[in-house]
Amino acid sequence: MSKPKLGLGAADLRHAPLFYLALGCLVLSANVSAKGTLAASATPKVCDTPTTPFCDALMPPIAGWNGHVFRLSQTYPIQLNSDAQPWLQYNPTTQPGEYLQAALAYFYEGNLRNDVEESFDPKKNKVRNWYNAPWQDYGLNGREFVHGLTRERVSRPKELAPQQTSMWNNYAVGFYNAPGGYTIGKIWADHGKPNADLGNMPEGTLAAKLLFTTAPVSEVPYLQGSPEWKAYLFKDVNNPNPKPTSPRGIVTVRLLQIDIAVKDSRVANLTGWVFGTFVYGGGPNGPAGSGWTNVKPVGVMWGNDPGYSGSGPLQETWLNADVKMPHVGYQGRLNGPVDNPVSSCLSCHATAEMPPGTMIPPNGQDPSPWFQNIKSGTPFNAGRKPLDYSLQLQVGLQNFLSAVQPAKAATTLKALGMKKPPTHPLAVPARDGGS
Ligand code: HEC
Repeated sequence: MSKPKLGLGAADLRHAPLFYLALGCLVLSANVSAKGTLAASATPKVCDTPTTPFCDALMPPIAGWNGHVFRLSQTYPIQLNSDAQPWLQYNPTTQPGEYLQAALAYFYEGNLRNDVEESFDPKKNKVRNWYNAPWQDYGLNGREFVHGLTRERVSRPKELAPQQTSMWNNYAVGFYNAPGGYTIGKIWADHGKPNADLGNMPEGTLAAKLLFTTAPVSEVPYLQGSPEWKAYLFKDVNNPNPKPTSPRGIVTVRLLQIDIAVKDSRVANLTGWVFGTFVYGGGPNGPAGSGWTNVKPVGVMWGNDPGYSGSGPLQETWLNADVKMPHVGYQGRLNGPVDNPVSSCLSCHATAEMPPGTMIPPNGQDPSPWFQNIKSGTPFNAGRKPLDYSLQLQVGLQNFLSAVQPAKAATTLKALGMKKPPTHPLAVPARDGGS
């Protein structure tokens, strides 16, 4: 898909690689747009305008491609219907392992196919609908066309396994179940005027994310047998700082991590959310196996253990004693293999708000504000609009505001008390605290 020529709005130029070089300059030429658009697509199709569907990806399929193509699942439900919540059989704080497995089984239902490349395609799921968040297809790290993968934090040597000597890029795609999709649909009911006041996720919302790495089995041995996807990524898989002009190509990635987040009122007095993560192959020295189901829980968290001194057991994180990762999060709180050890799942996600909060405690600053328990419905910073732990909502809104002309986003900017759109963080992946 590519943009129509609608004028000189930044949104119209977002598929033009040169656009990113021109960011910051006030003069953007129509040639840049036309060039990028023509280079990118044979059959222009309109998307991401107030009256059209959201775009699937940053770029259209490359010429001659006959593999999988990502289509954004965007027929968001307009009614909130009840669905099975198999995790409710378990108490998240006393049976976290069972709880997380039940949530994973729900995510797997109807999503696993013999053909690995065709797995986790919402169009093919006969059990239940899954939805993707819009506007993740923007900027240096935006969705590619094969599986809708966005670029995530780069893994530093030894973060994934003791044998790891290089930096490796990671990529991911996220899905929401129907209650989550319902909220996305409400916020974005008007594609030209998203309403950040409606960011409250209903009870039973489940979001899940598949994270893939470019790291090979030789450096991360527990990836042996991991499901592989092809995707259209920066070809230099070791480069931590690709540029918009860096060459892309079809690259093989391996499943490394599966993230799950569940809105559960049983922990409403803390955060309202249960976050858990799995690592493929059980991490270093994990048991042999293969395929999508060969993942082991790293842990579960339902609070940030505010005031924790750093010694003694955490009360609001459970770590699976059978999995020994080279690192988790700050002071042993839960974080995933690709994540920054100074943060935690709930610490980073609690900052989901508009205007965007600072995701990771800045170097040298007291980190304790990032390890409070922020109740669902409360913003991280007083006076902002909370987005209920959903960072894809935040990233999408931020991308929208930086992409469209300020005049076109005036209603949303005004509602957010923002005088101008946020500057787009080009280089840093959101999962690395990009905004
Ligand atoms: C440093 C920040 C950071 C940390 C730590 C982090 N995430 Fe996220 N996460 C993000 C961002 C940013 C997004 C949205 C953009 C994207 O998907 O790339 C996201 C997206 C997600 C999503 C998709 C739905 C949503 O809320 O946007 C899930 C589920 C998720 N993360 C779970 C987890 C889990 C589980 C952990 C811990 C194991 C974790 N995250 C740790 C930043 C973080």
